[in-house]
Amino acid sequence: MNKNEAIAIFDSGIGGITVLKEILKVLPNEKYIYYSDSKNNPYGDKSDRKINELCENIVNAFIKQNCKAIVIACNTASAKSAQYLREKYTDIPFIAIEPAYKMVYDYAYNEPTLVMATKGTIESEKFNLLYHTYDNHKTILLPCVGLANIVEEGNREKIKKYLKEHLESYRGKVKNVVLGCTHYPLIQDEIQEVLGEVTFFNGAPYLAKHLKEVLEEKDLSNNKGKKGTIQFIDSSNDEQKKKRFFEILEK
Ligand code: DGL
Repeated sequence: MNKNEAIAIFDSGIGGITVLKEILKVLPNEKYIYYSDSKNNPYGDKSDRKINELCENIVNAFIKQNCKAIVIACNTASAKSAQYLREKYTDIPFIAIEPAYKMVYDYAYNEPTLVMATKGTIESEKFNLLYHTYDNHKTILLPCVGLANIVEEGNREKIKKYLKEHLESYRGKVKNVVLGCTHYPLIQDEIQEVLGEVTFFNGAPYLAKHLKEVLEEKDLSNNKGKKGTIQFIDSSNDEQKKKRFFEILEK
């Protein structure tokens, strides 16, 4: 691989694929390295120190491979570590996902809103700043403990049971749902089934647009030539995970 060629993306598992899919729409010719840290999944209930340490190890490996930009496709890692990583690694741009709560403020301010995210994201300083800046006073913050984990596992029955238990009481009471964890867009249909007609807010399309702007600004983008490539690496070397990743990608 030539110097500064690939865009690196990571998450605590395959959830970040929902971010990669949006990125591919605007940057189809790039080389991507996707790192799924399933060995350490879930990130949602780990301490800030532990997440910083995990992220640092991942970033060091990306830097060794001369990646040109790093996408943090995990809301929890973004909330807890993005600032730390940006301060520590000043030569590489970090593009970090965050819950699309500002979009609710911009487009649906008066409507009751449910923010679904990990406990780590909801308790983080970064999310609290965002929440208090754009609070519409009609928002329920729902830490979905364990949900990313069962989405990662991919067991439909367990997912349905979880959603029924945790979301049914909000049916008819919320109009907007912020998908504040990158695993959740994978179960958007199942969430809709329990909550009824709601509008979903997902930060991934905005991240993709921002990544494109950053690459263009730094003259690092590759918008010509062949279709891009995607390399998938899973920290637990799970072949099944790899298979599922590419199946979801092609859907
Ligand atoms: N996809 C991660 C996020 O966006 C999942 C976190 C977890 O592993 O708990 O927060």
